[in-house]
Amino acid sequence: MPSLVSQSKSALKGQIKVPGDKSVSHRSLMLSALAVGESRISGLLEGEDVLATADAMRAMGAKIEKLECGDWVVNGVGVGSLLQPDDIIDMGNSGTSCRLLMGLMASHDITVTVTGDASLRGRPMKRVITPLSEVGAEFTARDEIYLPITIKGTDTPMPIDYTTPMASAQVKSAVMLAGLNTPGITTVREKISTRDHTERMLTAMGAKVTTTEENGYYVIRLEGQPELKPISLEVPGDISSSAFLLVAASIIPGSDILIENVGLNPLRTGVVDALKAMGADITVENPRELGGEPVGDLRVRYAQLKAVTELPVDPSTMIDEFPVVFCAAAVAEGTSRFMGLEELRVKESDRLSAMAEGLKANGVELKEFDDGIEIIGNAGKVPGGAQVKTFLDHRIAMSFAILGQMAEAPITVDDAAPIQTSFPTFVELLTGLGAGMTV
Ligand code: S3P
Repeated sequence: MPSLVSQSKSALKGQIKVPGDKSVSHRSLMLSALAVGESRISGLLEGEDVLATADAMRAMGAKIEKLECGDWVVNGVGVGSLLQPDDIIDMGNSGTSCRLLMGLMASHDITVTVTGDASLRGRPMKRVITPLSEVGAEFTARDEIYLPITIKGTDTPMPIDYTTPMASAQVKSAVMLAGLNTPGITTVREKISTRDHTERMLTAMGAKVTTTEENGYYVIRLEGQPELKPISLEVPGDISSSAFLLVAASIIPGSDILIENVGLNPLRTGVVDALKAMGADITVENPRELGGEPVGDLRVRYAQLKAVTELPVDPSTMIDEFPVVFCAAAVAEGTSRFMGLEELRVKESDRLSAMAEGLKANGVELKEFDDGIEIIGNAGKVPGGAQVKTFLDHRIAMSFAILGQMAEAPITVDDAAPIQTSFPTFVELLTGLGAGMTV
């Protein structure tokens, strides 16, 4: 396991681009593989998670290639034409690949065994098994809810009307992707609206998708069996990866950076509003649209952060950014409280306990609750000096690499390898801006 040692060298200065958005990258491969004709994608995130999706789509018949110029070309098989893979499919660490692709498999007459790494094998899959069984797929799962799972798709899928029991774009998207090869209207109802990249991309490719508000629910309807047009897409930079830079530049005195071309889908930008509520100096420059998604450049300058107890946004709009926001709270003035975060316990790791353990080990006082955390800010540097466990979770690794920049003694991350799943250029980009990190 390659460890990472983090301690501040200097203020962060410069102008950079982060890799492509992970959610958009996954969907661009999955949906262009179902189009009729050739799609071209630039700025695709080439992290392990997205490469797992590419391999899985290839195993089911799509032709996916990277050109020398760095763009990706996908020759789709058409909706309903996925082929029976001849081996098990390993999704690695990627929950998005696993859950969304099970949606696609559910409405095809194929039988597939899916597995993943130790982290993914510990994550709950009942949330997709339940609706996809209503569609007509059959599942055999370890202990009924865990990978490895064998899914037997159906050739007579039923259009379902499903209300998601938790705020999850993965569950919503799994049901919608099953609905693609299902005659009639598939409906998903959400109490809290989650990232809508699937809806936006399907619309751009010619599918009929509507979103309405009915009786306090967001209702998404998809007309099944569309012919999807190929796309030419530039993937915007990942706001979730940018979050590490937003926090780093906000907490390291003297910093001033510009992150170019960041996806600013309003269902993803909660971290910007949360940090601003803590006093961060973040401005959006040059707002524009790219491939059906809002984008802009983010300018971040150092500011002394203060605690926050009520977030101005719904947790779903910043669900992956909490670990690094906890690090911001650890150096802020005052006591922060973040609640309603039960979903953090079922991410790549139990992020509430992983963060609590690493923060405590580095001298941060806190209280952990079933669905949240209270963090006593140090109004400046934290003591640091300890090694943290990353539990195969990229965002835990990167969060503590950022906190190390504001620690009296270096913080060591036990395993930097998971960073490759979503942000392969993390260390290079940060050290290029002035951070002190060695792997
Ligand atoms: C994702 C949805 C979120 C997020 C994950 C990516 C997606 O998961 O945490 O990193 O691309 O749909 P949940 O649906 O479990 O909230």
